[in-house]
Amino acid sequence: MTEKPTNPKIQELRDRKVLSLQGGGPERIEKQHQKGRLTARERLDLLLDKGSYREIDTFVEHRSTDFGTDQHKIPGDSVTTGWGTINNRLVYVFSQDFTVFGGSLGEVHAEKVVKVMDMALKNGAPIIGINDSGGARIQEGVVSLGGYADIFLRNTLCSGVIPQISVIMGPCAGGAVYSPAMTDFIFMVRGSSFMFITGPEVVKTVTREEVDFEELGGADVHAEKSGVCHIAADTEANTLFLVRKLLSYLPQNNLEDPPFQPTDDSLLRREPELDSIIPEDPSKPYNIKKVISLLVDEGEFFEIQEAYAPNIVVGFARLGGHSVGIVANQPAHLAGVLDINSSEKAGRFVRFCDSFNIPLLTFVDVPGFLPGLEQEHGGIIRSGAKLLYAFCEATVPKITLITRKAYGGAYDVMSSKHIRGDINLAWPSAEIAVMGPEGAVNIIFRKELSKAKDPDKRRAELVAEYREKFANPYIAASRGYIDDVIEPSSTRATLINALEMLRNKRDSNPGKKHGNIPL
Ligand code: HXC
Repeated sequence: MTEKPTNPKIQELRDRKVLSLQGGGPERIEKQHQKGRLTARERLDLLLDKGSYREIDTFVEHRSTDFGTDQHKIPGDSVTTGWGTINNRLVYVFSQDFTVFGGSLGEVHAEKVVKVMDMALKNGAPIIGINDSGGARIQEGVVSLGGYADIFLRNTLCSGVIPQISVIMGPCAGGAVYSPAMTDFIFMVRGSSFMFITGPEVVKTVTREEVDFEELGGADVHAEKSGVCHIAADTEANTLFLVRKLLSYLPQNNLEDPPFQPTDDSLLRREPELDSIIPEDPSKPYNIKKVISLLVDEGEFFEIQEAYAPNIVVGFARLGGHSVGIVANQPAHLAGVLDINSSEKAGRFVRFCDSFNIPLLTFVDVPGFLPGLEQEHGGIIRSGAKLLYAFCEATVPKITLITRKAYGGAYDVMSSKHIRGDINLAWPSAEIAVMGPEGAVNIIFRKELSKAKDPDKRRAELVAEYREKFANPYIAASRGYIDDVIEPSSTRATLINALEMLRNKRDSNPGKKHGNIPL
């Protein structure tokens, strides 16, 4: 567009396009920059491959007349929509423009978003929404609420068909939070994004609690406490980089396999360090993330919800170039116990992987479910059932490796053979039993111990006996519950071989409208 066109109609078109790119004008753009935030289109420039963004609906204007809004029309309104590529793969996007009516969502804003969501669903490509909005456009009233509901419906229809990613880069409040909440992954920027149902003023009126935006619904709060945020990053640029990275592990839709990424990392690489990574003392912790990084391609693990319920670790990696979803008990935090939060975190992750044909690799070192009033009254029964349900329901290739403890119900839950684990492996350090030796001895030898002359000595003998007899992988292996006990150093090759063997796995669930997961 360097030469001046001879046709005035072409000049008019150019002028109109330039106007729509200005959003709310230089002053409001400057204000946005002063807050350390980029504009809607600058964000897309960083997110998408250079020059790939194709914007549509730049001439759409709102139809509202109330409160003088008819005097204030901006082509494109308060959201930019279209498509582009990320690493040469198609994605659909919308990015709310805070410089126009504070990014608020009215009738035409919603129509634009709905249009790209429908296109994404029809054409089978991910949808990414960048949120920076004051919420429902107050001047448009109930029409705005209707617009949100139109989007919520699409979120539900897209769920499990195309990956949906929300990036929160400013305010996201009130009912507006429910669109991101129904997507698969929420990214937030520390210090400049927040999500809450009601703001600090309303909180103060209703509960008398005094909180600021950050404390109420900032990135760290949602990454650590509520679990609403999957990835929190320090800058907008880094957040968008991480969105690109996440997509590299995912297929475009539920009918595709995830992309293959060739690797120079040897498929047969041995890791002698793993042979001694499990401490002699079963009560001593070790870091399961170290195990994961020694096994996966180039040691690269993309962790999801890192700061939330760290007693379980979930995330994506590649083995032999193929994406896998990893679920791992973390002995370095609360001994890797399953509780309400970790069960829900892992359950949702398992369901995502199953929806999108990503094989599941499960590392087990779990002493059981967390006892206590708080957990029982909080509904650990229902939450644990979610994880159990998710693993039972999953039909993607499922490989399980028990590194140490697999006790009680948690043994069953963690992708055991009985719930359709395809390949179930154990290291020689595995202990598969109804419960740990100390607990078991206290129960089955209660009478004997109460009569013993030296109960502590007798208890220690019985614990040693129990450990010798039951705390190993061979009883489970003798029944075929464990397919093989392997040397830890050879694990990478074994896992890659198993994944390859399962490449064409076909399994299904009985026909039904949908199951009734214990929500
Ligand atoms: C119309 C809005 C708006 C809104 C902001 N603006 N929110 N216009 N509808 N919801 C406009 C402002 O009038 C202002 O216009 C411009 O956007 C920038 O807003 P500022 O207040 O100057 O910006 P800032 O100081 O950064 O504060 C941002 C904010 C604040 C915290 C988001 O604007 C705010 O509290 N807005 C109202 C939020 C709200 O209560 N929304 C309704 C929530 S209920 P000018 O012309 O001056 O630049 C909801 C229900 C959804 O969303 C239900 C779904 C089911």
